[in-house]
Amino acid sequence: MSEFETRSVSRLPGFYRLDIAARRRHLVDTSSVDEERLASIDPGALPIEVADAMIENVIGVYALPFAVAVNFVVDGIETLIPMVIEEPSVVAAASNAARIAWPSGFVTSASRPVMIGQIQITMIEDVDAAAAALSEAASDLLDDARRRLPRLVERGGGPVALEARILAREDSPDGGVVVVHLHVDCRDAMGANLINTLCEALAERVAQIARGRPGVRVVSNLSDERTITVRCHVDDDALAEGGNGAEARAAIAAASRFAELDPYRATTHNKGIMNGVDAVLLATGQDWRAVEAGAHAFAARTGAYRPLAVWRESGRGLDGCLVMPLAVGTLGGALHTHPAARLALELANIEHADRLAAVAAAAGLASNLAALRALATEGIQRGHMSLHARGLALAAGAAGELVEQVAVELSACGDLTTRRAREILVRLTRSV
Ligand code: MEV
Repeated sequence: MSEFETRSVSRLPGFYRLDIAARRRHLVDTSSVDEERLASIDPGALPIEVADAMIENVIGVYALPFAVAVNFVVDGIETLIPMVIEEPSVVAAASNAARIAWPSGFVTSASRPVMIGQIQITMIEDVDAAAAALSEAASDLLDDARRRLPRLVERGGGPVALEARILAREDSPDGGVVVVHLHVDCRDAMGANLINTLCEALAERVAQIARGRPGVRVVSNLSDERTITVRCHVDDDALAEGGNGAEARAAIAAASRFAELDPYRATTHNKGIMNGVDAVLLATGQDWRAVEAGAHAFAARTGAYRPLAVWRESGRGLDGCLVMPLAVGTLGGALHTHPAARLALELANIEHADRLAAVAAAAGLASNLAALRALATEGIQRGHMSLHARGLALAAGAAGELVEQVAVELSACGDLTTRRAREILVRLTRSV
């Protein structure tokens, strides 16, 4: 039986104090996942043979902590958010921010899941004529493209548009260069594979129409037509926690403006957002490098590098809004092979790509709120200390109850080193 009487899925005060078995009991009680499935995230649960089939030159399996962030409500649904990350405090900070945003939580809206495939054509003698010919052939080419993806079309997706852009005139080192953009609604797939296949299949015909040579044929990771917007509102009272809510509100808004004015700060601001987003992407087996590349290119789309999320004062509270491209899939990729990635989707009740994007973006906005709130008030180091101290205690060889005892003493003395952790451990061990 779960320790939580409320039957709430995600509002779980004290979850962090439970042991792993008790946390798992709650998951079993509130999701479709049973104990046996949970065992698939035990160390070594990715069989080495499966790992060997996933990538090349495998020599082992590399494990990372798998956690759930609590207190999230995403589009009105209480959600436990799966996160895989090596950095202390990210899960706690996101959970803490989600508690501040409770009960209205995070509200999202997703664009259509349209990805872009690129076919580059070089050595064109007349780029204007090529662009005109490609525009004329667009509807034929699209029909051809649709015929190649019957199942995607059946699911309501498929190629939706084709356009030609002139990149260089005839006197460039590559002659005239035109790129054809194929816009494809990928539904629940991330889409890179299907788009790459499509671009390769169409390249020869596109080159003939343009009277040039086919060049690079691949998906673009600047998926700016597949975006997610997530908003939340937090009241001063929730922000305050014994402090001054109005002050924290003003300081967070000022920290947001700082990121809007300065790319050095905007980069770190966005890094904090990606702490939350990437952890969800890793847990759910996504291509997080693709999302990272797209996010930063999107942040720089105006020519200046800007924050992906901004915070504005609104009455006695703050409104936060994050907009970013999020190309994710609930079909294909590592989900075919990685049992923990499938489990992560199940734990969060995620069936479709747009829901996965919503959950990852909510974790991103929550991480940003937590970071700005800490930076605007007490700073980020205090929160890091206790987990860091536990890490040092473990590294010094502490086990069981001694981990916490060593960590408490280490934090109290402020000398966060393995040497001091060892000294404390030796003393505590002698005294038992
Ligand atoms: C650390 O991983 C992330 C932060 O630096 C983000 C930020 O500064 O906004 C705390």
